[in-house]
Amino acid sequence: MSKIARFLSLITILLLFHPLFTEAQPVAIARSGMVGKSIAQFVPEGFDANKTPSLILKSTPVISGRLPSHWKIYPEFSVTEGKASAIIHLKGKVSLYGGGEVTGTLLRNGQTIRLWNTDSGAYGVDGGSRLYQSHPWVMGLREDGTAFGVIFDSFWKAELRTDDDKIEFNTEGALFNVYVIDRNSPQEVLQGLAELIGTIDLPPRWSLGYQQCRFSYGTEQRVREIASTFRAKQLPCDVIWMDIDYMDGYRVFTFNKATFPNPKQLNADLHAKGFRSVFMIDPGVKVDAGYDVYNSGTKQDVWLKDPSGKEYHGKVWPGDCAFPDFTMPRTQQWWADLYKPFLANDIDGVWNDMNEPAVNDNELPEAMRLGTIPYDIPHRGGANLPAGPHLLYHNAYGRLMVEATRKGVLAAKPDKRPFVLTRSNLLGGQRYAATWTGDNYADEKFMKVTLPMSVTLGLSGQPFSGPDIGGFLGNTSPDLWGQWIGFGVFLPFARGHACAGTNDKEPWAFGPELERTSKIALERRYRLLPYLYTLFYNAHKTGLPVMCPAFFDDPGNTALRSEEQIFLLGKNLLVVPAFAKSPNLPTGIWETLNLVDGDQSDRYQAKLLVKGGGIVPAGEIIQNTTEESLRQLTLYICLDAKGKAGGELYWDAGEGWDFKKNGFKLLNFQASRSKNLVSVSVKSALGNYDLSPEIRKVKAIVLHQGKQYEGIGSLKDGVQVNMH
Ligand code: NOJ
Repeated sequence: MSKIARFLSLITILLLFHPLFTEAQPVAIARSGMVGKSIAQFVPEGFDANKTPSLILKSTPVISGRLPSHWKIYPEFSVTEGKASAIIHLKGKVSLYGGGEVTGTLLRNGQTIRLWNTDSGAYGVDGGSRLYQSHPWVMGLREDGTAFGVIFDSFWKAELRTDDDKIEFNTEGALFNVYVIDRNSPQEVLQGLAELIGTIDLPPRWSLGYQQCRFSYGTEQRVREIASTFRAKQLPCDVIWMDIDYMDGYRVFTFNKATFPNPKQLNADLHAKGFRSVFMIDPGVKVDAGYDVYNSGTKQDVWLKDPSGKEYHGKVWPGDCAFPDFTMPRTQQWWADLYKPFLANDIDGVWNDMNEPAVNDNELPEAMRLGTIPYDIPHRGGANLPAGPHLLYHNAYGRLMVEATRKGVLAAKPDKRPFVLTRSNLLGGQRYAATWTGDNYADEKFMKVTLPMSVTLGLSGQPFSGPDIGGFLGNTSPDLWGQWIGFGVFLPFARGHACAGTNDKEPWAFGPELERTSKIALERRYRLLPYLYTLFYNAHKTGLPVMCPAFFDDPGNTALRSEEQIFLLGKNLLVVPAFAKSPNLPTGIWETLNLVDGDQSDRYQAKLLVKGGGIVPAGEIIQNTTEESLRQLTLYICLDAKGKAGGELYWDAGEGWDFKKNGFKLLNFQASRSKNLVSVSVKSALGNYDLSPEIRKVKAIVLHQGKQYEGIGSLKDGVQVNMH
């Protein structure tokens, strides 16, 4: 090496290690202000939306006022070697929550998660610190029950640390905006979150039924057998799922001619039995010159290409695949359009999987494996999205895919509410798809973590989630199935699923005793359908979760802060799974709810408790949501200490969009006790949907000190219950 070259390399090394490059350089806040009620935006000096675009927020907020002088929570921005960070210092004792799809505890103090969407079988990658989705969002709950929330508006690869004294968000990308919501309660903070990131649309009612899946029901014949067995055994169920084996050689948007020769007829047969069907679609498209989807993608120039312009190929189920660049508007349209002919086979819903995206690069030496698209593969962008490397767009890949999917499903069936389930997503992605929590394992640890996972998703803007009930990987024992189905039926999304090569995991597969357990559990879910549907409506309207942590009952009660064995459905129903050992229960009056014969004596069933002051509407046991649920509406009433109670019922056609034009009914019930008589009536009613053909009679059941008192009446005249 010449002297000059040696001198230059020395200078380079010195510069690289110069504190100016390796130490965090503070970055001032360029702009801040209020963008909503107690919602502040912080824009760092040098922020550039072309380097850090936003996909999290539903629209660009506008600063409309200055921060009040008492505002307490400020981010401190910095940049280290070109990588942006923000820290929020915390004062006092704060319980931290959020981070979306995480494994581990509900209370997030002292945790670190990596935001890098990853196909993580048995949540094993990096010790579970990164899963399939990214939610750069933390909620803090102070000792007095007031709360705040922070959105780090970036989907660059990042790490989120939640310590007792600070929240730290370290990215591998450019500067980003921070939003802080500071309100009186965690519920109000979540409503603030929804004001920024939107809410779910109201799902079709059938998607709240029980759903049965397997990787895979391999033939039309097998699907029919499964469907018939549910009906023959009177086990309520609404949906059968088609995993990848229905496809022709794993080519998306095709059907295997030998095993699924007539999907339209299959769906017609399923519909005739009151089932819906959901079919899987992955993002990777087989590289195959004889395959029209691949050819049309090539013609429209939608594929990701490497920096030299060569089509990027990665291996998934069908072997070499090309991947759509969903940042381009024309790719979004092309992908959306693929659904029309596909759904014309009378398919009801779509399941988008492997969309982190997962790539099998196991042939590489271990140190070089990424399990996804290389960081430098460019995404071309368009419309509001700048061009950027995969390092930027990776965490948005699934989110952009499901946006296009939802658009396609809606265009193909404009009169129906789309149902899309996704594995990968981003904070705010609840606007497009529901979530299941990926490839869990059939053991007790995974069963128990179901609760903090789905509760945390609810605390992160995604109310519609659930696990593979029974556990996906590994064989499921009868006992585990019983434990899991006993509370799994109360999760927002309730689907049993099983990996290839594992034992059968349908509700009848574990012998007659467990079949009875399953039947009771499923019947309990279906009886609660009116309550659940009402909670989904509220989630759609307000952003409040369906499944809530116990501390929601009393945010000021610090004893509930880390309680994760139990959960609330809405505010009036507490679910205590059979596995829960000495949970911290919310205080006050709670009465046991008995919904189905045998549910109190079966050791696997979760205990259900109605809150003092609450009314829970329930329907009949039905086999699927095409049957009438409300022929007899039952109102379960638990009076508060003053002898009063209230509750809501939301109902509509269960499908379609009439509810957006007043075609719904929202009833507000009240109950009040005078001596031994409880009078129950409709306090107020909103909407034009006519319930009279559906509700023939109303039964009110007052739950009081372990006893039940009943009365029968009608919606119009109310119900009187004598407590003698
Ligand atoms: C991975 C998904 O997580 C799993 O649910 C599915 O069964 C397999 N892919 C096969 O499609």
